[in-house]
Amino acid sequence: MNSTLASASPYLASFPFPSSLPTAVVIPLAIVGAFIVICLVNGLSQILIPQDPSLPPLVFYWIPFFGSAASYGEEPLTFFFKCREKYGDVFTFVLMGRRMTVALGPKGNNFILGGRLTQVSAEEAYTHLTTPVFGKGVAYDVPNHVLMEQKRFVKVGLTIEHFRAYVAMIDKEVGDYFDSSRFFPTYQTGSTTEWGKFNAFRALSELTILTASRTLQGEEVRNGLDASFAQYYHDLDGGFTPLNFMFPNLPLPSYWRRDRAHKAMSDFYINVIQKRKEQGGSEAGYDMIESLMNQTYKDGRALYDYEVAHIMIALLMAGQHTSSATTSWALLHATARPDIMEKMWEEQVKLFGQPDGTLRPMTFEDMKEMPVLDSVIRETLRMHPPIHSIIRKVIAPMDVPGSLAAPSKDRSYQIPKGHFLLASPAVAQIDPKIWKNADTWEPGRWNDTDGVAAEEYKKYVDSEGDKVDYGFGLVSKGTESQYLPFGAGRHRCIGEQFAYVQVGTIIASFVRRIEMKIEGRVPDHNYRTMITLPKEPCNIMYRRRQAPSA
Ligand code: HEM
Repeated sequence: MNSTLASASPYLASFPFPSSLPTAVVIPLAIVGAFIVICLVNGLSQILIPQDPSLPPLVFYWIPFFGSAASYGEEPLTFFFKCREKYGDVFTFVLMGRRMTVALGPKGNNFILGGRLTQVSAEEAYTHLTTPVFGKGVAYDVPNHVLMEQKRFVKVGLTIEHFRAYVAMIDKEVGDYFDSSRFFPTYQTGSTTEWGKFNAFRALSELTILTASRTLQGEEVRNGLDASFAQYYHDLDGGFTPLNFMFPNLPLPSYWRRDRAHKAMSDFYINVIQKRKEQGGSEAGYDMIESLMNQTYKDGRALYDYEVAHIMIALLMAGQHTSSATTSWALLHATARPDIMEKMWEEQVKLFGQPDGTLRPMTFEDMKEMPVLDSVIRETLRMHPPIHSIIRKVIAPMDVPGSLAAPSKDRSYQIPKGHFLLASPAVAQIDPKIWKNADTWEPGRWNDTDGVAAEEYKKYVDSEGDKVDYGFGLVSKGTESQYLPFGAGRHRCIGEQFAYVQVGTIIASFVRRIEMKIEGRVPDHNYRTMITLPKEPCNIMYRRRQAPSA
């Protein structure tokens, strides 16, 4: 058999395997040998063959196609910092056959997030991941101007008036959860001082979907969470992973479950919409479904039922991991800092304390009077922005401005059509050249009116002269800010205010009901998911507060 193989291939014939080796050994050795040769040729060609000088520097890699997938996938920010040191703010790396050009810093963010529609496309970068999950006719399955209109429709349903109602609804949901969740079985009665513990990410994921459905999603979805809807969500979420981003369709059970769950969830929403049409509205009042059902495109057409359904799925997915990760990181850090926990509690006692020792209910207006809570959220989003890589596809060649990265005075780089662009505002947010003690979670930095944080935040919210209306209200174009957890430009997040209300109310509700301390230390990042999550174990110890709250 060995000799048959050898004679069949002159390459194998010359390989130095003793003829007595069994086939089961020869074939793998031959494959490994060939693989090593291919990698060597690939590596040497990068060293020996001069690169096209109009292209940004290429991050060295041994394995063709795979490229820098391992270093990027495991620790993307460390990878970016290392590459920046070696190549500057603009460089290209290979990721599973794709050429990814990274542009760092505020100028890099501006270049990518403020890129022209004729040159960069989010649709082409994301649609293969999102359309099987969200469904047809929305988000990245439609031309950009349609998405801009859809973002405007959603904004109509995200008003201050709604947020006012949401605070009490979210607080109540947290209270009910403490009474019923398997994560909170420990009660302190009389002299008992036993501490219980909960898994921060799991508990906060459950609370995020419960509170989002009670508020934004509507009564039917909230009721469905106790039944079939929760399973659809789980299976759909299983189709929103880095593997799905790399390979849109593989013959795997998780892909089939994703497709079945999408169909079931889409039908669920369509049924809700049709029932509401028959009944002439929702019994529960005015929620996002109701709001979307009453919108019309610029050409006068109302949204089709399936468009409403798919926008609702998109909102569910866009807000779920981003908010639950933020709340988890905030609580994990705060519980590791007893001084901050104490300050958050004191803030509540000062604001809500009543003569009988109970705390009065919170309101939306109160939340603006809670600087400690606010700084906890801002600092968490600085260190743990849930989205570490924002991606676009280059659809027409783009010149990199000289001010961003130019190899020489009279030459700039050009990024070819077909490359992907990658912005990572997360890098600037933890850059030690910008932030003092950049890798320390320190909410106090946001209360220093002369500090970098205040300056960057002002640029973030103000960005004078840099605001554009892409069709869903004024947003900053790309900003010069070093702090962009919600992105910038035409694809900027529209859920920021809702997220602040949701995350802020959940944290405040925890603080008023339980004392907390971390078990162990703040966990490391898990970058293997689409959203940057805390690694397991991420447990928090709790003890119910003795003083009842209203
Ligand atoms: C877009 C972050 C919560 C809905 C984005 C983007 C970022 C972001 C960075 C820009 C993506 C890009 O440019 O490709 C966050 C963070 C959140 C959060 C940090 C919470 C802490 C939410 C919530 C919703 C939401 C709660 C819905 C209610 C959206 C939508 C877009 C978006 C619709 C627009 C996508 C586009 O135009 O391409 N978000 N988000 N987000 N987010 Fe959020």
